[in-house]
Amino acid sequence: MSITTFEINEPLDMHLHLRDGDMLKLVGPLTSNTFSGALIMPNLVPPVTTKEDLLAYKKRILEACDGDAFEPYMTLFFKNDYTYEFLEDIKDDIIGIKLYPAGITTNSETGVASMDVEVLRPTLESMSKLGIPLCIHGETNGFVMDREKEFMPIYESIASAFPDLKIIMEHITTKDAVELLDKYDNLHATVTLHHLLITLDDVAGGMLAPHLFCKPIAKRPEDRSALLDAALKAHPKLMFGSDSAPHPKHKKECCGCAAGVFTSPIALQVLTDLFDKYQCLDNLNAFVSLNAQKIYGKNPVKKTIKLIKKDFVVPAIYEFENENVVPMFAGETIPWSLED
Ligand code: NCD
Ligand code: DOR
Ligand code: ZN
Ligand code: ZN
Repeated sequence: MSITTFEINEPLDMHLHLRDGDMLKLVGPLTSNTFSGALIMPNLVPPVTTKEDLLAYKKRILEACDGDAFEPYMTLFFKNDYTYEFLEDIKDDIIGIKLYPAGITTNSETGVASMDVEVLRPTLESMSKLGIPLCIHGETNGFVMDREKEFMPIYESIASAFPDLKIIMEHITTKDAVELLDKYDNLHATVTLHHLLITLDDVAGGMLAPHLFCKPIAKRPEDRSALLDAALKAHPKLMFGSDSAPHPKHKKECCGCAAGVFTSPIALQVLTDLFDKYQCLDNLNAFVSLNAQKIYGKNPVKKTIKLIKKDFVVPAIYEFENENVVPMFAGETIPWSLED
């Protein structure tokens, strides 16, 4: 008999871009109304690198998500010159630190110029001692389809040099990354919704689909299969992280399309549909909450989201003041809805 209702408890999105200003006011509630918590990316312009900026940004997020029971788990933008004292002081206000190789994606210009363990050692040593997790955008500047694969030795060098450091490979897109997960105790990963669904064919195999263009770029069918297998069985070291990354429509539908797929308002419905289709709904709560709770040691605010098998027509666009954003599946009908 087919399932027609489903409940998700304390959903967590462990990789989310909320931006700032009116875009934050637009997209913040689209996460906070359904998720209990989310790990917030620090790639603002300029990036979040001080305690003052971090706490002020957290306050703006909470204001934007007015009244919702929702916890933003804040992150700091990795820098080589953070002192032990600074990190010790900010430790309780952050869930982790996000490391970007310089120039690899949106607003990563001030990321690290070298991924050499010896160059990174001072900050990583402090983080390891203080128990601060390291979140990494793992791509080299090589050929675009090989960037993540080429980053595997770098993950290995950090994981083996700092066995006590909790490392999260963000938004993995390859079979190689799935395989690496089991090789080091201290390696974990997030995977997005879109990378469970699409390959490069969906982005560029026919007419170019700017709203599916993101970094890391979607890969090959065998990569998607490996990611999907790991997600559907709720691999205990894998967590849901949407990487929902809003850009206004004019920055996507233009020459020089910004990277990012906006999935916040449809994520839970589409995940339910996907796990339902593969008869793996029993594993969805682990994938979208329990694994992250264990990995990060968090106890999120109680929130039960009820889904029903009923068509939902995805809005063509979300708008607020002068901001707008086009979601994944804009204008299409998806088979699961949030219960109202
Ligand atoms: C840059 C900065 O701080 O100057 N921001 C960033 O790297 N996140 C500005 C820019 O993005 O051009
Ligand atoms: O597609 C992406 N968009 N990938 C990232 O890593 C960053 C993000 C953004 O901030 O827009
Ligand atoms: Zn990233
Ligand atoms: Zn991201």
